[in-house]
Order: sequence, then C-alpha cells, then structure tokens
Amino acid sequence: MIIKLPPKSACKESDVTPQSVYLSRRRLLGSTAVGVAVGALPGWAAADGGQYPGVSSGNTPAWLREKLARTHWDAVTAKGEAVTPFKDATNYNNFYEFGTEKSDPGQNAGSLKTEPWTVVVDGEVNKPNRYSLEDFMKPYLLEERIYRLRCVEAWSMVIPWVGFPISSLLRQVEPTSRAKFIRFETLLDPKAMPGQQSGFALINWPYVEGLRLDEAMNPLAILAVGMYGRELANQNGAPLRLVVPWKYGFKSIKSIVRISLVEQQPKNTWQAIAPGEYGFYANVNPQVDHPRWTQARERRLPSGLFSPNVRETQMFNGYSDEVASLYSGMDLRVDY
Ligand code: MTE
Repeated sequence: MIIKLPPKSACKESDVTPQSVYLSRRRLLGSTAVGVAVGALPGWAAADGGQYPGVSSGNTPAWLREKLARTHWDAVTAKGEAVTPFKDATNYNNFYEFGTEKSDPGQNAGSLKTEPWTVVVDGEVNKPNRYSLEDFMKPYLLEERIYRLRCVEAWSMVIPWVGFPISSLLRQVEPTSRAKFIRFETLLDPKAMPGQQSGFALINWPYVEGLRLDEAMNPLAILAVGMYGRELANQNGAPLRLVVPWKYGFKSIKSIVRISLVEQQPKNTWQAIAPGEYGFYANVNPQVDHPRWTQARERRLPSGLFSPNVRETQMFNGYSDEVASLYSGMDLRVDY
C-alpha cells in the first residue's frame, strides 16, 4: 500500500463532528417511527449524507430502514474519543475495486448496485445457504459499535458502525468440526467495479480475507450494514462488510458476497501480493514495524499538513483486554 499526504480537503480539528450532535442525531433515528426514510430526516443528518458523491440517501430498502431504527445504540463506544466526521469517513477510502486514490471510491462507487444482493454461506457448515441480504439479516438485531479503525498505512479514524456479531451467524449456520477458518469474498463485477477491469493488475480479484474461527467468534468481530446511524455508503463496503477493530483495516473486507467455512488458512489478498509486508493475522502492533515505515504512531483523521493529529498506536488498537488471549504463545513478529 502506498502512503499519501492528506488531501487538501482534510478538515480541521474544529470540523470534527461534536459527539453531542452525533449522539442526538442517533437518538432521533432510534426514536423515529419505523418506515420513515433515513434520507428524509431533518437537519444536518440528511444533508450531510446527500451532498457527498457515492453516498446514497433515501435508497435504503424499507426492511433495512426498519432494522436500523431498532438498533441497540452505544453497544460499544471508543471511550470519549471524537467520532471522525462522516465527510472524512466517506471521502478518504481504500477500495481498490474503485481506484487506488483515496478519493476514487467516493467518486466511483455509485456504480455499485447493492439491491438486490445475494450472500452465499458454504463450505464446512451444516446449514449452507444462498440468501437475499434481507433473509441473511433477518435473525439478527443490529448494534452500534463505535470502533477505532487503524489502517496499515498509519492513519486512523473512529467510526460508529452498525452491525451484528459474526458469532451469531456462526451459531445459525453451524460450522462442522472440520471448520478452522472463515473466508470472505468481495463481489466480482468488473462492469460495476472499474478497478477490477485490469487497472490494479496486482490483485487477483475478487478481494479475499480470512479469520481464524476463534477470532471470528470474538464478540468484537462484526458484520456491518450501517455507519453513522444509516446504511453503509458504497465506498465503505455496502451493503455488507467485515469489521475487526483490533486488526489493520485491510482485514475489514467490503461488499461481501461469499462467506465460507474452511479447513485451511485462506490466503488473503494483501498477503498474496506482498507476503513480506502483509500477513494473515495483521493485528495492530506498534512493536512490529512495516518493512517500509514505523507502526508506532498514527495520523488520526482529520489531520492537517500543518497541524498533524499524531498519536501513539496502541497494541491491538486498544482492544488488548478483549483479544490478547487469542494470541497467547504466538510470536507476533513471525505471525504478523
Ligand atoms: N475491501 C475490498 N473489497 N477492497 C479493498 O480495496 N481495502 C481495505 C479494506 N477493505 C479494501 C477492502 C483497506 S486497505 C482498508 S484500510 C479498509 O477497507 C478501509 O475502509 P474504509 O474505506 O471504510 O475506511
């Protein structure tokens, strides 16, 4: 991955969405009568989504609007850290299917058609199935998880996701005793995803990621269908993405169409491209540098060129209490 300077559009510290404004908007969403379109909400809530390219407003299917309105807010918070402005979370993205510049996904991901959407669950499960997204989501209540997101490129954000634990899905589909890993696959659709047409030839599409089964069972690991109290923006991986906050952002695969339970450790996309730089585990670790840059610090966005918002990176991105035991006895310099 390439490190780039912040775009000229990076906001100032004063532009950060005040937590109180975000919270009050969220409460409004929570108390909104079922069936009212998220895009029809008054105030900054509707306006801020509508004005960004690639961020749909009002196209959310009714079943998802209803589900979002019943979200259990504040299920996990980032302990007082400011939520990254929606503007930055939807305009500074990595989604190589839509281009390699940070602004490309925001500009190009409008071509992604997220409705209808099919999700296949297969492999080592007692209950394999092919679902419409609505049926796939039916058993699960949505929860809000405000998580730090730390990219391997040394920038970070704080994002309020809306999703459900992968452990709930695994209980539904019943992995067999042979299942040791879970493999995720992004949509392959070169017509809608210009980056897949050849552009970034290094990637053997579709984008693939994986977790060990016990990592996927950790309560912090979620599948997200929303952010900032609304549906996921296309550039952030609509309509379904993985979020594993103790790992570098590249593990959080977007626009998932296939979830397979497998015996062997899957080869994830970035590991396949540069195995000396990106591993399977990709746990956030300030003590293990990337071969080309330090991982000890990160730029918390928004971060201006003249007032960089730099902070120390935390082990497991600050989630050690919840996940360190998954790796006891492992050498994290070898299994990076
Ligand atoms: N998923 C797919 N399918 N394609 C990608 O290029 N980029 C990854 C990850 N998921 C990527 C992906 C990387 S490198 C990061 S840092 C995060 O998405 C960025 O998520 P965000 O754009 O929502 O911040």
